[in-house]
Amino acid sequence: HFGGYVMPRPRTGHVSGVPLDQNTCDTWDDIWRFQAHPEDVLVAAYPKAGITWMQEVVDMICQEGDVEKCRRAPTYDKHPFLEAVAPKPVPSGLQLAENMAPPRILKTHLPVQLLPPSFWEQDCKMIYVARNAKDCMVSYYHFQRMNKGLPDPGDWGDYFSTFLSGKVFWGSWFDHVQGWWEAKNNHQVLYIFYEDMMEVPGKGAFEDILEKVYQQTTFQAMRGNPMANYSTIPSFVMDQSISPFMRKGVVGDWRNHFTVAQDEVFEEEYGRRMERTALTFRTRL
Ligand code: A3P
Repeated sequence: HFGGYVMPRPRTGHVSGVPLDQNTCDTWDDIWRFQAHPEDVLVAAYPKAGITWMQEVVDMICQEGDVEKCRRAPTYDKHPFLEAVAPKPVPSGLQLAENMAPPRILKTHLPVQLLPPSFWEQDCKMIYVARNAKDCMVSYYHFQRMNKGLPDPGDWGDYFSTFLSGKVFWGSWFDHVQGWWEAKNNHQVLYIFYEDMMEVPGKGAFEDILEKVYQQTTFQAMRGNPMANYSTIPSFVMDQSISPFMRKGVVGDWRNHFTVAQDEVFEEEYGRRMERTALTFRTRL
């Protein structure tokens, strides 16, 4: 028990114009110099696009469907979060990664231009998870409410503008999804949509290991898995009574948040920012 301890929200810094936790900015030179191993697999995503889900899928595949092995540790210990810098004594993502023997599964929310260059030099395999902007916005809003490791989101109306203008940690959703979309043309980037993951055919289509991977990575299973649902993080950091980490896990919850006026503002900005890309998203299934 932490007796009402209130963790201060982080300060905002910038790296090349991208807002990040000041603690991350302070150690940026070390993060930038991170040495990836050719066998490392990087899982990347904009915040709240479903990276935890993908991490569990990748882990289940690597462990050949062994559920017990996948419960060996919480997600954040199994897969170092590259740019994460937590208050002492919690190790940084960099320290976790450097103490782990390759091949490692590494996690990042960095936009493509901020990815440490060794990942490209080593030609690492990467998986990028993309989720439609509206559901990302809603999910990120609730996450910032409950996670004291991120800035206070303010009320929904304020947050709507903050998100659209890209003034959130890890920067603009538009730049993020399009940057990684371009990267896949020249690098080993598997680009996967959250909405498509929702539609993975159910039972029967999978055999043996894949069937176990599927069972273990449903929203219900992960919500009840303490190694995957971040319930091991103390409540003064992530207050799951405000909003659970495994919140809803659906496509289209934005419709319960966006006003008609907000949707019009959103669609105008979206059209402007996305007019030059072939990248398309589904906001309903
Ligand atoms: P919601 O807040 O919309 O429920 P990340 O892992 O990138 O932080 O993303 C978290 C989002 O993915 C949350 O979205 C969470 O509920 C959802 N999620 C996590 N595991 C999932 C699963 N197995 N199936 C569907 N959605 C999942």
